[in-house]
Amino acid sequence: MSQETVTITDNRTGQSIECPIKKGTHGPDVVDCQTLYKKLGMFFFDPAYITTASCESRITFIDGEKGILLYRGYPIEQLAEHSDYLEVCYLLLYGELPTKEQMGDFKGSIYQHTMLHEGLLDFYKGFRHDAHPMSMLVGVVGALSAYYPDAMDIGNPEHRKMSAVRLIAKMPTIAANSYKYLIGHPYVYPRNNLGYVENFMHMMFSVPKEEYQFNQTAIKALEIMLILHADHEQNASTSTVRLAGSSQAHPFSCVAGGIATLWGPGHGGANEAVIRMLQQIGTPKNIPLYIKRFKDKKDPTRLMGFGHRVYKNYDPRAKIIRNVCHTLLQELDATQQPLFEVAMELERIALSEDYFIERKLYPNVDFYSGMIMSALGLPLNMFTVLFAVARTVGWIAQWTEMMEVPDMRIGRPRQLYLGSKQRDYVSIEQRGI
Ligand code: ACO
Repeated sequence: MSQETVTITDNRTGQSIECPIKKGTHGPDVVDCQTLYKKLGMFFFDPAYITTASCESRITFIDGEKGILLYRGYPIEQLAEHSDYLEVCYLLLYGELPTKEQMGDFKGSIYQHTMLHEGLLDFYKGFRHDAHPMSMLVGVVGALSAYYPDAMDIGNPEHRKMSAVRLIAKMPTIAANSYKYLIGHPYVYPRNNLGYVENFMHMMFSVPKEEYQFNQTAIKALEIMLILHADHEQNASTSTVRLAGSSQAHPFSCVAGGIATLWGPGHGGANEAVIRMLQQIGTPKNIPLYIKRFKDKKDPTRLMGFGHRVYKNYDPRAKIIRNVCHTLLQELDATQQPLFEVAMELERIALSEDYFIERKLYPNVDFYSGMIMSALGLPLNMFTVLFAVARTVGWIAQWTEMMEVPDMRIGRPRQLYLGSKQRDYVSIEQRGI
C-alpha cells in the first residue's frame, strides 16, 4: 500500500508538498511536515503546541475525549488497584511489568541509593527559613550532578540507568529534608527495611524521640497518589525535561528544569491552589458567589482543580482519587471533612452550570489530591513537592527514551517575529531629537 499523505498547498504560488501520515498504536494520526520550511519556506504557527506531536513515545497514552490513561498499555485504573509505585516505576522505565526476580533487584537498587551525600545536606542551611520547598527541590536536584562524576556520561546506557535509579531513590529524601529544614527538625535518615511510601512518611514525620505510627489507609492513599501522578505524556514539565535533555544536558539538571515548570499554578501548583480556594470559600453557602466569579471574564479567579488541556470529558485519575479521598477522610481526619463537603458541593454545582458544561470543564486530579495530602498532615507548600516526587519517574523515563533515539536532535522551536524591522543604530546624543 502506498504511503498515505496530506497535501499542503501554498495558494499564493500553487506550490505543494506531500506530507506523509504517521499512525500510532492509539490516538490521532500525525502529519509529518518536517520538510515544510525546506520546501515552502514557512513554519507552522502553533503557540502552546496545541496540535504538535513533539516526539514518538511508547510510554504513556492519554485519550482526552474518552478519559483514558495508559502506562505502557496498562489502564491506570488497573495499576491503581493492583500495583504499587515501584512496580509502576519499573514498568514506565523498562516497558514491561517485572518478574519477581526483576522486581527484587530493582527494589534493592532503589533502596541502596536513598541516602544523600552528607555534603548535600549543607545546601539546605543556605536557604531562608521560609523558602518554598519547591525552590529547595529545584536547587538540590540540580546540584546532584556535582556529586556523581562516576555516572556523567549520558551516552552510556549504564550511566543513564544509574542516574534514573538515583533520582527515584533520592527524591523522597530530598523532599522530606526540605520539610524538616523548614520546621527546624533534624533530618531523618532513610531506612531500607521500609517500603518506598513508608520510608517517605518515616523521613517526613518521625522525630528522634518518637517513631511515626503508620496507618495502612494513609499508606495506600499515598501509594495511589504516586501511581496516578507518575507520568502524563508530553505535559509542560516533561516537555521541559525533554527540551533540556535534547541539548545533551545531564538528567539531574533536566529534571531540575522539570521541577521548576511543575511549580506553576497552571500545572502542579494547582493542588495547593485548590485548598487555598476551598478555605477561602469556607462554607457551601458561599459557593454561588464564587461560581459567579469563576465565570466572570473580568475576574481572573478560576475554579482551581477544574479543566485540563487534554481531558475534555473527565480525568480518569480524578475518578480514582475521589474515592480514595472519601475513604481516607472518613477514617483519618475529621477536621478536613468540612473542606471535603465544600469541595463536593462545589463540584456538584459547577458540573450543572452551562459555563462549565459548554467548555467541557471537569474536576482534574488536583481537585482531590490536595485534600488527601492535607489529611496526611502535609502542609500546603509540600503538595507540589509530592507531585514532583511521583513525577520523577515519568521525567526520567521520557528522558531515557529520548536519549535512546539514534538521530536525536536538539529541540529548537521557531517563531513568528512581530518586532521592529531591521534599522540602524542611533547614538545616544541623536535619540529623541
Ligand atoms: N475556571 C474557569 N474557567 C475556566 C477554567 C477554570 N478552571 N479552565 C478553563 N476555563 C475557561 C477559559 O476561561 C476559557 O473560556 P473561554 O473559551 O470563554 O475563553 C475556556 O474555559 C478554555 O480554557 P483554556 O484556558 O483555553 O483551556 P486550556 O486547555 O488552555 O487550560 C488549564 C487548561 C490551564 C488546566 C485550565 O483549565 C486551568 O487554568 N484550570 C485551573 C488550574 C488547574 O486546575 N490546573 C491543573 C491542571 S492538571 C495538572 O497539572 C495535574
